[in-house]
Amino acid sequence: MTITFIGHGYVGLVSACVFADFGNTVWVIGHTQEKIDRLKKGDPIIYEPGLEELLKKNLKAGRLNFTLSYKEPIASSEIVFISVGTPPKNNGEADLSAVFNVARKIAETLPNNKKNLTVISCKSTVPVGTNKKIEKILEKHKPKNTPVAVASCPEFLREGTALYDTLNPDRVVIGSESKKAIDLLLKLHEPISGKRVITDLASAELIKYAANAMLATKISFANLISFYCEKTGADVEAVLDAVGLDKRIGRVFMNPGLGYGGSCLPKDIKALIKIGQSLGINASFFEEVDIINQLVKENFINKILKHAPGKKLAIWGLTFKPGTDDIRFAPSLFFIDKLLQYKFSLSVYDPIAINNVKKLYREKIKYYSNPYNCIKNVNALIITTEWNEFKQIDLDKVKRLMKHPFIFDGRNIYSPETMKKLQFKYYSIGRKSL
Ligand code: UGA
Repeated sequence: MTITFIGHGYVGLVSACVFADFGNTVWVIGHTQEKIDRLKKGDPIIYEPGLEELLKKNLKAGRLNFTLSYKEPIASSEIVFISVGTPPKNNGEADLSAVFNVARKIAETLPNNKKNLTVISCKSTVPVGTNKKIEKILEKHKPKNTPVAVASCPEFLREGTALYDTLNPDRVVIGSESKKAIDLLLKLHEPISGKRVITDLASAELIKYAANAMLATKISFANLISFYCEKTGADVEAVLDAVGLDKRIGRVFMNPGLGYGGSCLPKDIKALIKIGQSLGINASFFEEVDIINQLVKENFINKILKHAPGKKLAIWGLTFKPGTDDIRFAPSLFFIDKLLQYKFSLSVYDPIAINNVKKLYREKIKYYSNPYNCIKNVNALIITTEWNEFKQIDLDKVKRLMKHPFIFDGRNIYSPETMKKLQFKYYSIGRKSL
């Protein structure tokens, strides 16, 4: 098939590479010449494990084309995926301007009398009713004799495991009123595993928000339970392990920590609250999920302010989770901002995101390319992202290098017993400091 992705972020670029790898001809439309040039040379721009290799392989095979122009891709594609960003506005609503602009450009570029159906499928996360609006824009601006159908095909990939998730999704959701559109999308997804969910546009749109809201809820639940543990002396890991053994509940995605960050869960829960309000629904349940996500960070900063034995601190792990260089809504940024406000001096280390953080803080903090150098003579170490390399790091060496052996672990990487044996003063989430 010939297909197009508009947008080359995590969703657009990863999906484009995967479908090109299956043998399809894939166009990717961007809007910045510099980025398109980099992509054409095999530079994925974003960091995602395995992506660069797949990009280079499919560029070389001639199946993947990057362009700024809509003309050739739209004229030749059977399916056009809209995969542009829907960032949060100041009031929490999803900003849909890019989605609607793109829909109009598609409509205006569709050739007159194109015989075969063009499916316009939205992969961006959009509020219920958006695809209907896309349909209206298409009808208004496209040539009358050119058939189109709209479909919603939400994406469930996670950053850091995006290729694996795209190839092995739990489900492929397709919402459309057009049987032909559904058939074309089913054909495209044939090589991909996962249960097929065929539904209407509104349900497909809501499935995406409901899934992310459930994930955010599990995390905030775990974090709220960690507050109970801290007040009562219970151990949050033991509590959640036991709770999770109930098959109706499960333990996955219920890790307490510094809350959910990234470009999806924080924005989607806020957008869902706004959608609820606009529909006259009391969405205060989701507001609480969002509030807890802020409270966990405040609870942890209070621990640091209360117990840190000096003003020189190190932070390990800056991304919103391991396996990515993405720092959007990363908890680390909250801690950097707060600690700078309280006049702490900060050294930071991250395996891949240092350059992204440098762009934000420049000379305000010190950057290290090695975790050990980062902690020399500091009064305390704060861990905000659970990169694997911290899990079995040489803790004796860590202790020798630090001025004071204080660790504030926001991801419960180490066991309190081990840390006690090693004579660290160790603070974590929902567990006693021994
Ligand atoms: C999330 C969803 O997991 C994907 O299914 C979805 O497709 C994607 O959003 C999206 O809407 O595009 P992602 O943002 O890549 O994926 O990251 P997650 O793995 O969900 O992690 C989000 C945040 O939650 C991270 O900051 C992570 O540290 C935190 N988290 C996750 C916890 O604090 N505890 C957990 O148990 C799990």
